[in-house]
Amino acid sequence: MANKVLKIEYEEFASLDELEAQDKALAEAAIEAIKGSYAPYSKFNVGAAVRMSDGTIFTGANQENAAYPSGLCAERTAMFYAHAHNGGERMCSIAVAASQNGVLCASPATPCGDCRQVMAEFQTEGGKPMSVLLVGGAKIWKYPNVESLLPFIFDSL
Ligand code: THU
Repeated sequence: MANKVLKIEYEEFASLDELEAQDKALAEAAIEAIKGSYAPYSKFNVGAAVRMSDGTIFTGANQENAAYPSGLCAERTAMFYAHAHNGGERMCSIAVAASQNGVLCASPATPCGDCRQVMAEFQTEGGKPMSVLLVGGAKIWKYPNVESLLPFIFDSL
C-alpha cells in the first residue's frame, strides 16, 4: 500500500488589472456575457468566454427552463457554441463570471462537474492545456489546465 497525495496549484489575483492582457480581455468578455443569462429561477447569472487558438473569443451564458434539467450552464453554452462555430481551432482558455442582483459575485463561481467534464473533452481534443479563469469581484483564480479542477479525468473510451 502507498499513500498518494494530490497537489493542485493555482494562482490568485486581486483584480482584473493584475492579469496579463489576454486573460484580462477574456475575463472581461465573461463578465460582459452575463448579460445574456436567462436565469429567472435561480436568479444566479453566469457568463463564460472561450478563447480559441486563433484568438477568437466565443461567449455564452446560463439558460434556464421551467423544466429544470433542460437548462444549460454558461460554460457549456459557450464551449458548445465555440465548437459548433470554430471546431477546427483549439480551446486555449475559458473564463467564468457570475452575478446576483446585477452585482458581480465577490467569490469566483466554480464550474459544476458536467462543465468540468466537457472542458476535459475539449482540452483532450486540442492536445494542449486549457487554462481556466474563475472571475470574482474580490479575487480571480487561474488554473493552468482542466485536470487542476478535475483530477483523474475520464477520457478513455
Ligand atoms: N451555473 C452555471 O452556469 N455555471 C456554473 O459554474 C455554476 C452554475 C448556472 C446553472 C443554473 O442556471 C444556475 O447557475 C444556478 O445553478
